[in-house]
Amino acid sequence: MQADPAYRSWSSLARAAQEQMWIAVGDTIFRERARLAATATRLTHPSTRRGSLSLDPQFTPPRGVTSVDIHLQPGGYALDLGEGDCSAGALYESGGNLYAFGQGISRTDSKAAHVQRFLRERFPRLQPKRILDMGCSAGSASVPYAEAFPEAEVHAIDVGSGMLRYAHARAESLGVAVHFHQMDVAHTSFEDESFDLIVSHNVMHEISAPTRRGMLRESRRLLRPGGVCVHQDVPLRFQGLSEFRKFEMSWDTLNNNEPYWEVYANADLQPELRAAGFAEDCIHVGSLPATQGSLPWFVACAWRPE
Ligand SMILES: C[S@@+](CC[C@H](N)C(=O)[O-])C[C@H]1O[C@@H](n2cnc3c(N)ncnc32)[C@H](O)[C@@H]1O
Repeated sequence: MQADPAYRSWSSLARAAQEQMWIAVGDTIFRERARLAATATRLTHPSTRRGSLSLDPQFTPPRGVTSVDIHLQPGGYALDLGEGDCSAGALYESGGNLYAFGQGISRTDSKAAHVQRFLRERFPRLQPKRILDMGCSAGSASVPYAEAFPEAEVHAIDVGSGMLRYAHARAESLGVAVHFHQMDVAHTSFEDESFDLIVSHNVMHEISAPTRRGMLRESRRLLRPGGVCVHQDVPLRFQGLSEFRKFEMSWDTLNNNEPYWEVYANADLQPELRAAGFAEDCIHVGSLPATQGSLPWFVACAWRPE
């Protein structure tokens, strides 16, 4: 396939489209960087803010994040251009909107809506008091949980400071209280059994296998009895796929700086959730029903009995 002229032309076009997407949003965001930072400072003023932001000056983002401009995003997830910089979050939200043709991120985020529908159907009695969103990026999935469960305290974590500053300002601009923290999904500093609901959205395909297993162990440690975790991601599974489809699906690893795409596609999450400490009959791994215009999102869900 790599030698086939038709494949090479398609692949070049796909790569060029991705580069152009980042040039288009990057030009504006980098030009407006100072104004973005000033707006974020105004939106998060201590006298008016509802949520909070805790950045850890000692925190070093993992090499898996810093060593690659993930999906060609300029500077990658951990980009931080200094005091108050929000570029990483603005890039993620704007690039994501363009990539998804306006669907699946921002106010039209379908991932959180799908998981919330799944929770209502599967766990109708769940009324979480504390919710954690792991790998929150710009917080576009964190905000819908705070809106859906107004009585709950919502926390969200990510490794990128520029991402978290933007997420905090964005949540405040929407009038929603979310508490953002700079932490690794595999090693948080929250207390044991301190959350009733833990979610992650499109994170598993962006982290290494040891980090993913750490995230599942951390989910088990942090869940209270009766609590539920739902790790949602793209419906990309290699089990049962033809070699051709696997090759086709590997394009992002080979050409779009997605080092963990295939690592995720090959992961067997049922035994990983068991190894993390969940009982066999407290695990559900599978797809959510697609709605008009959405993907059939994949979920790895586990819960603790009351
Ligand atoms: C695809 S984005 C997540 C999108 C977001 N959840 C949403 O719904 O819009 C992946 C995020 O995971 C974060 N991330 C990667 N490795 C991480 C780690 N070890 N701990 C915490 N966050 C991590 C990245 O910084 C990035 O913001």
